[in-house]
Amino acid sequence: MKIIIEENYEKMSRVAANVLLGKMYQNKRVNLAITAGSTPVKMYEYLVEDVKNKAYFDNVHYYNFDEIPFKKKAGYGVTMSNLNKLFFEPAEIDSDHIHPLDEKNYKTQDARIAQDGGLDLILLGIGADGHYCGNLPGTTTFENLTSVVDENATENMKDILLSEVGGDESERPDFYVTMGPKSVMQAKEIVLFATGAKKAKIIKQAFFGPVTNDVPASLLQVHPNLTIILDKEAAAELD
Ligand code: GLP
Repeated sequence: MKIIIEENYEKMSRVAANVLLGKMYQNKRVNLAITAGSTPVKMYEYLVEDVKNKAYFDNVHYYNFDEIPFKKKAGYGVTMSNLNKLFFEPAEIDSDHIHPLDEKNYKTQDARIAQDGGLDLILLGIGADGHYCGNLPGTTTFENLTSVVDENATENMKDILLSEVGGDESERPDFYVTMGPKSVMQAKEIVLFATGAKKAKIIKQAFFGPVTNDVPASLLQVHPNLTIILDKEAAAELD
């Protein structure tokens, strides 16, 4: 496990963008699974500038690792809508290079990725409860591949689904799909990044505490190629 601690959110975002860019500069197909959420906002701002109109990045293919479908709205769900807005559209990524995971194709996600040569890198955020992708405490065990998590998975799952669609009850789905721990661990490299004091406690617990299903991200500790990128606030609890 390698930990990089940067002074602030901007610098942490720059380093995360650089790590992705370093992976992209290869003379072969590169498969990246990338995260939505609020943490990557600045990183995508940098990355859009770096990759837009650069034909030499035509070797890069992109995957989302979870999806929360809207109940009624047709088209992409929460994750892909977010990734489109933050990165794919402004960077003008060719749609042939974007491989959406959704509620219709989730059963073939792991096989599709394996057939494409596997993930070279997966970029993850972390929730204050220790979740990554849609792997929340109580919803998953380390053996899970890509699967459905439904509204009955935990006591507060309906609330979580509601907040994922911005509090609009008419759009609240009764499930989402996510790559599971076992799918994520198959990536050749894992990069997890976090910003702000609200993540400090879980960073210590997940990466310096026991490996347990109660803290889903703790499993990532045992991956042979894990890099954690933090700003000072998120690293505040580390020695
Ligand atoms: C959501 C996403 C996760 C992400 C997490 C943290 O639950 N499905 O993949 O890591 O939020 O998001 P944020 O970066 O906004 O803290």
